[in-house]
Amino acid sequence: MDNVVISIGGSILVPDDHDTSYIKELADMLLRIKKDAKLFIVVGGGRIARYYIRLGRDLGADESYLDDVGIAVTRLNSRMLITALGDSAYHVPAESFDEAIMASKNHDIVIMGGTHPGHTTDAVSAMLGERVGAVRLINATSVDGVYTSDPKKDPDAKRLPTVSFPELVRICLQVEGGAGPNVVFDPLGAKIIARSGIETRIVHGRELVELEKAILGKDFHGTIVSE
Ligand code: UTP
Repeated sequence: MDNVVISIGGSILVPDDHDTSYIKELADMLLRIKKDAKLFIVVGGGRIARYYIRLGRDLGADESYLDDVGIAVTRLNSRMLITALGDSAYHVPAESFDEAIMASKNHDIVIMGGTHPGHTTDAVSAMLGERVGAVRLINATSVDGVYTSDPKKDPDAKRLPTVSFPELVRICLQVEGGAGPNVVFDPLGAKIIARSGIETRIVHGRELVELEKAILGKDFHGTIVSE
């Protein structure tokens, strides 16, 4: 069976107001398609991670410490999806790639959050994609693809249906900073998918019909990153 890695942004899973029905609908969709692919899901930290990172920074914490705070939140968010998925999912967030691989031997779905300071869960999903030989990586995020400029700020921004690996690396390198940056894909993650040639699909995580199509390798609304 094909391995597919899905990176779900924390702000998709746990938005400003908690949204039980979205998590349930997402879980139902994943449970329906688990017969078609082995699913490895990497969950982000979202606004709760950003809240703690900001608070800790104001209190004088260093950036690596704040990254560990962010990682803790990704694992908390992971537990919410695990709860919704029930027995089909490995019952704790895997804390390493080895643990995720071992867990996948007897679970249809494996969830993990962050791993180490210095990157985001996008990079984790890219590394996991390499480790499990994923046929594709899905980035379920808060925009419906890669745009010529930030669509939340620029009304003339155009969505790009396809983007090459070098082009994605170039776009992602334009924005770098400390813990908690907000970019379409982590620059390290972009470099990893480029070196391994993992087809990556950027899709709006709240559009479940499009997300399902993206996961299953069908035509979908979003951006495909490939050679
Ligand atoms: P996210 O992956 O959610 O980062 O991890 P993000 O891109 O800021 O969030 P979204 O996609 O916009 O919602 C949250 C934070 O946790 C730390 C980083 O500080 C990151 O910004 N983190 C996460 C790590 O240091 N290492 C990891 O492996 C994962």
